[in-house]
Amino acid sequence: MPATKKTAIEFNDRIFDLRRERSHDDLWSMLDRLYGTHPDYAKFSKALDRAMRAAWRDRPEDLRLLDLKRDLEPDWFQRPDMAGYVFYIDRFCGTLARVPEKLDYLADLGINYVHFMPCLKPRPAPNDGGYSVMDYGKINPAYGTMDDFEAATTACRERGISVCVDMVLNHTAKEHAWAKKARRGDPKYADYYLMFDDDTLPKQYERTLVEIFPNDAPGNFTWYDDCQKWVWTTFNEHQWDLNWANPQVFLEMAKIMLNLANRGVDVLRFDAVAFMWKRMGTRCQSEPECHMLLQALRAVCRIVAPAVIHLEEAIVSPAEMLPYLGRGEHDGREGNLAYHNSLMVQFWSALASSDTQLMTYVMGAHFPPNLTNATYATYLRCHDDIGWAVTDEDAAVVGLNGHLHRAFLSDFYEGAFPGSFSKGELFQYNPETGDKRISGTCASLAGLEKALDANDAAATDRAVDRILMGHALIASSGGIPLIYMGDELALTNDYGYHDVPAHAHDSRWLHRPMMDWAGADIARTDLNSVQARVWNGIRGILARRAGVREFHAAYPTEILQTGNAALFALARRAPFGSVVCVYNFSDYWTALPQSWLVQHGMTHHVDILSGGAVASDRGAVPIAPYARAWFS
Ligand code: GLC
Repeated sequence: MPATKKTAIEFNDRIFDLRRERSHDDLWSMLDRLYGTHPDYAKFSKALDRAMRAAWRDRPEDLRLLDLKRDLEPDWFQRPDMAGYVFYIDRFCGTLARVPEKLDYLADLGINYVHFMPCLKPRPAPNDGGYSVMDYGKINPAYGTMDDFEAATTACRERGISVCVDMVLNHTAKEHAWAKKARRGDPKYADYYLMFDDDTLPKQYERTLVEIFPNDAPGNFTWYDDCQKWVWTTFNEHQWDLNWANPQVFLEMAKIMLNLANRGVDVLRFDAVAFMWKRMGTRCQSEPECHMLLQALRAVCRIVAPAVIHLEEAIVSPAEMLPYLGRGEHDGREGNLAYHNSLMVQFWSALASSDTQLMTYVMGAHFPPNLTNATYATYLRCHDDIGWAVTDEDAAVVGLNGHLHRAFLSDFYEGAFPGSFSKGELFQYNPETGDKRISGTCASLAGLEKALDANDAAATDRAVDRILMGHALIASSGGIPLIYMGDELALTNDYGYHDVPAHAHDSRWLHRPMMDWAGADIARTDLNSVQARVWNGIRGILARRAGVREFHAAYPTEILQTGNAALFALARRAPFGSVVCVYNFSDYWTALPQSWLVQHGMTHHVDILSGGAVASDRGAVPIAPYARAWFS
């Protein structure tokens, strides 16, 4: 250990230099291409270097130790014991100060990663659930202060729980200080956004852009009388898109990112990354520059705060999503995590149709068996709606009409399709394209709400089994399973949002209920309750998973053909063994030939999820309705 303060500083600076050397090319090869011809490039480069060194000097000692630990164990987030929990601070526990007292509950469930839903200071409501940020340096005052935030991240770290927070990269609230200055005509800040004197260019862009919120916020541009400008507003009117072609925007965002890292954030969730770069004549989504920007941001973190990883939110088709996990020239250098939207969509699609053929095709054809330095965030539900991201081409491969299948799924999950077990609400119906998205909690979509309303014990059992099968699926397919707050207690839809003026227009609030702590008590005390069955089921799945080395995300996932439309199967292959996971998406009993299991390397047939040896009836292994079995 260095003896004096001066040598300690020199020693630390030397570490910074080594990390800067390591990521030099990852960073500057991107920035040169993005901004090399910008007149301020030299000034920008120096400022970025200074900002990185300053952030490193500010980095608390315990976080530097964590940097070292994670440099030594770079697979920390890929391990089979990683499991996440996603919640709004106010809806889960009120304020940040109360997070520590809830950690026992989370640890008991098997959680070691928490996502605090948007917690930076948003504009006053409506603020898109916090995604309209007016100050990235402050915490939402309703949740507490930056000190409370640091206390919460410290408490989590001491318990071995990583913290994820949202960082909205694509836009700021129109009340952000930069936007206010831009609006007053300050040319420096006007260049932070995309502002136009008349609608000539906006109209040209609109020809190829899509509508994100067609009901609430039609169009991608907004006219402001006071400043006589059109402003690019992809999402809501109050969310102004940033101009990432300006290196100053990169610098500002890099500083914000490092500040959050130094406050104890482990995972930065980059919001709406697909929209960061605009190009005339395109959808302005997932342009190559998005990946250059994200690689550069990744490199900045690797230099200053290597303990931190990046989760990229790109809810797009599989082919468009995978590059966010680093493909081609960005291999191993871009996002560490990205949402596995397809798995989520395919789960609900297969469940509605009791048919896994589309799922088997999509998962096998589009997803590589493994990724470099990266894995998926797997989930069944999140705070957003479900968009039926099934392409016409994929549907056609298995004999489906894409348009009709998507319409069926919306009708089914809205509860309108005859015989549907589900209860949800539409989100942003677009009559022009026929696109209908769906809101609803996991439990309500899986049939629990209707079953409870009808007092139907058998239907309740089936709904519980669907919920548990889904969780076993996201726990086994590769990646960090994210449990969305309340799903562990099977919370049903919250219709109260209709009475909240700031929420009533946005059906996503249907599945953003308040935490049900009374339900959590029931789960502990009444073992026959639905709450207990779901809680113990999910807890059991996570506990089992933690002990199965084959579930490490670095080991390949192989999608298997079962020849049985009701069954979806995958294998996790490690050099020392395999696990074959089988899921029955139908509500009837079916069977797998024993020879099928043998063919896939399973000679003993032990279901490690239930713990039992699997009975074989004359060469066939019976599979119960909505069964989830992990054969080892
Ligand atoms: C992301 C968020 C969503 C939000 C949008 C705009 O998609 O998940 O909730 O509306 O970004 O910030």
